[in-house]
Amino acid sequence: MSDKIDIFDTTLRDGEQAAGTRLDSREKLAIALQLERLNVDIIEAGFPCSSPKDFEAVELLSQEISGPRICALSRAMKADIEAAGRAIAKAKRSRIHTGIGVSDIHMTGKFGDDKYGKTIGEKKVRIMAMAADAVRFAREFTDDVEFYAEDSGRADPAYLFEMLESVIDAGATVLNIPDTTGYAIPELWGQLIHGIKTNVPNIDKAIISVHCHNDLGLAVANSLSGVLNGARQVEGTINGVGERAGNAALEEVVMAIRTRRDHFKVDTDINAKEFFATSRMVANAFRMSIPPNKAIIGGNAFSHSSGIHVDGVLKQRETYEIMAPEDVGMDETKVVLTARTGRHGVKHRLEKLGYRLATDELEKVYHRFLVVADKKQEVFDDDLRAIITDEIHPVEVRYELLYLNTLSGKGSIPTASVRLKDGDTIREEASTGDGPVDATYRAIAAAANVSPSVSDYEIRAVTAGTEAMGEVYLHMSEDDICVSGRGASTDIIEASANAYIDGLNKLAAEKRR
Ligand code: KIV
Ligand code: ZN
Repeated sequence: MSDKIDIFDTTLRDGEQAAGTRLDSREKLAIALQLERLNVDIIEAGFPCSSPKDFEAVELLSQEISGPRICALSRAMKADIEAAGRAIAKAKRSRIHTGIGVSDIHMTGKFGDDKYGKTIGEKKVRIMAMAADAVRFAREFTDDVEFYAEDSGRADPAYLFEMLESVIDAGATVLNIPDTTGYAIPELWGQLIHGIKTNVPNIDKAIISVHCHNDLGLAVANSLSGVLNGARQVEGTINGVGERAGNAALEEVVMAIRTRRDHFKVDTDINAKEFFATSRMVANAFRMSIPPNKAIIGGNAFSHSSGIHVDGVLKQRETYEIMAPEDVGMDETKVVLTARTGRHGVKHRLEKLGYRLATDELEKVYHRFLVVADKKQEVFDDDLRAIITDEIHPVEVRYELLYLNTLSGKGSIPTASVRLKDGDTIREEASTGDGPVDATYRAIAAAANVSPSVSDYEIRAVTAGTEAMGEVYLHMSEDDICVSGRGASTDIIEASANAYIDGLNKLAAEKRR
């Protein structure tokens, strides 16, 4: 068995299914270029049949990315597979990822119609035939076809083995065994992968892949158990982003394999020094903050505070550290930019962080950089990332905040007045509220004539010090559409307003769709 583990990144497909997240093609390309630097083996770029935007993104990545293989998702349906095939047609190296539900719950729930069989036995036969047909059809577009057996974690293993044998015969080159609902337990999951290795007669013709969800917090542990039992591809996302509790965090999988090579006896081709930049880029694009204690890339992942630990690390790092921050690219934040750095210096630093901007985008970012540098003298990498996400808007901008004034303080009634541009119309409104942020949100909502509900409001300092940039994340929903918003500023009320406006613009874009 090979000692190389392929890393299949699905940040742009399964990761993007996280509540409130939608990336446009430009954002997907920026992340894909960074994933190329990270040296992942496969990028799952999207689900082309699901929307024209997804099709466009997969097509764009197929043209622009030359290192990793570009993969498109499809259900086991002709129209889906055709769309996937067309979207990846220009890729240097391509893959179609097609599949079907294999647990009884999925088969009866999704294929309840009698046309798929009246009994579960009949449905099983019909669904197995659909799976093989889908793989055969996908092979007409590319010679690399991955089959996913959805909800393998709750499937009858005997049926799963038979299904896998049949799709390998139909031409599947990779078998994805997803724990779709995050139900698996490491030991049992390992046994299932071992069972596949020993019970599927033609298994040597395909690579086994594991795709674990994190509902019980076990996605990484299950993935690693899969590797120990013969899986040679691991699927996951950067920072573990994804639907519900998310997917296996790739930075954790890779660093576990690398740090405990003595145990796993395999490795990946990942350039781990790019993890930090990739993680921050994804967090900003997904409008998700990273908990400080997050393994591998959290702000505190390499901080020591207790006296005994600090003393130990100073004497010999290995006493309390199993990895070095520089192994995952965390030693980069020492560079400080100031108002005198100049356009060229800022551009150079942005490129180091993985952002290659068009001239007009760079102008916008540089202009904002100067405003921030004037206020806080020193601009750090995290400030730059916050500026980028703020200035390079992913959605068409309908609302723009032209003016904001708030009044608050002990004994006063918090009040906000705003001037808002809504398309070609400019409106002014004022409101009171429970605090200056609440008053601001009420005034903007009145000016925009909307009434979304806001949840998960979170504020954090991007960098240290009282003059630090404040970053605000929130979720916003209206008419059953949920989006996330993010804003940054050295003024936290303005950062809150920017996050609200970002959310409103995304809501408007979603409604148009
Ligand atoms: O979790 C899952 O089952 C999936 C498949 C579509 C691969 O994401
Ligand atoms: Zn999934």
